[in-house]
Amino acid sequence: MNKPFIVVNFKAYREVEGFSALEIADICEEVSKASGITIIVCPPMAELSYVAKSVTIPVFSQNADPYESGAFTGWVTPSMIKASEASGTLINHAEHKQPTASIARTVELCDIVDITSIVCADTVRSATEIASFHPDMIAVEPPELIGGNVSVTDADPKIVENTVNSVKNVSRFISVLCGAGVKTGTDVKKALELGADGVLLASGVVKSKDPKASLLDLIKYL
Ligand code: G3P
Repeated sequence: MNKPFIVVNFKAYREVEGFSALEIADICEEVSKASGITIIVCPPMAELSYVAKSVTIPVFSQNADPYESGAFTGWVTPSMIKASEASGTLINHAEHKQPTASIARTVELCDIVDITSIVCADTVRSATEIASFHPDMIAVEPPELIGGNVSVTDADPKIVENTVNSVKNVSRFISVLCGAGVKTGTDVKKALELGADGVLLASGVVKSKDPKASLLDLIKYL
């Protein structure tokens, strides 16, 4: 996967229930293919395998739990994500938090089954602690800006810059994303200027009246 990364989290919005998840994934694939920009989609768990088998862009789970295969009813194992043909997962999203020890174990299991891990963090401090677990990517998102219309890159550019510096100080191999309120090409451009390797977003595409136009706007300066 080439940088920069545009990661579109579908969350559990009504707009992505059932077949609609594939419709939005198809749009992301079309824009990614035409532009050459890496667009990763995170459909709801119920549609993960179906979407992963239907598109050629990377498909990630919205969550993974710290368990190997076994008697773990309702939990999402890294191994089942791999078997579903998805190639990565979000971990510790602000809307699906995990204790620190669980994050470390989940990252380790993702490594073992060879899927990409994106761990979310709400502060520079937490991102720095998570960096010591060596996930593939860390996404910093101030929870209070999630779902809003003001981008983290405007509301709190320092959290992006400081997270990039602290994480890269632990390992330059960890990619850093930023998210919350990212909706336009200008937001993405600012994220990259602040040192981020990409963005994690949701409502800007999933809740858009015209997801394709929104995606084209998001990538217009790349
Ligand atoms: O996972 C992405 C997310 O939490 C940010 O959401 O709607 O502010 O782009 P949104």
